[in-house]
Amino acid sequence: MASRKPLDDERETHRKLLKFWKRGQSEYCEVRDSGIHGRGVYATCFIPKETPIIEYFGERIDKKESERRGVRQQEKANQTGDAAVYIFTLSKNFDIDGDFPWNTARLINHSCNPNCEAWIVGRKIMIHALRDIQSGEELTFDYGFDVDCYEDHPCRCGAPNCIGYIVSREQWSDLEKRLEARNKSR
Ligand SMILES: C[S@@+](CC[C@H](N)C(=O)[O-])C[C@H]1O[C@@H](n2cnc3c(N)ncnc32)[C@H](O)[C@@H]1O
Ligand SMILES: [Zn+2]
Repeated sequence: MASRKPLDDERETHRKLLKFWKRGQSEYCEVRDSGIHGRGVYATCFIPKETPIIEYFGERIDKKESERRGVRQQEKANQTGDAAVYIFTLSKNFDIDGDFPWNTARLINHSCNPNCEAWIVGRKIMIHALRDIQSGEELTFDYGFDVDCYEDHPCRCGAPNCIGYIVSREQWSDLEKRLEARNKSR
């Protein structure tokens, strides 16, 4: 049997990378500098409500591996000062690690008034439009962070209803009570 030549391997790697790269892009959006933080993802055209915009495309990993990578990403984040952990829950047994350069959706920022939401569709995580989105709007979703570590994540989304911290909408009433108690004790 003829052995594979280095050039064949190179072509195969290139083909795979191109495939990954394409899967992480979308005709509906592109990366730009963000007014919220660093880089963000912006609509390049009108996007009707409920449109599947872009896949949050990473590697499917089991929970044990997910915990390992989560700790590693958190350690790196602590050094840089950014809350950049890219693990997304997929199911009871699996998560998606989105920490790959081709995963454009990893750059979507959080907002207290988000226009997108992550939906699990089979084995994929898709970012959908929560409402009609105009061309030029920054795409955002609710990061769903836990209220217990709210002080670590001040929010700069700029929405009129911004609660001041990146915390899951579902825990806002709890956050409001904590903020009230904190203000009273000052
Ligand atoms: C997954 S990254 C999002 C992309 C990020 N803007 C970048 O340029 O790498 C998450 C980081 O963005 C920051 N970030 C996202 N939304 C934010 C917000 N509403 N307010 C402040 N920082 C935010 C977080 O602090 C976190 O470090
Ligand atoms: Zn906010």
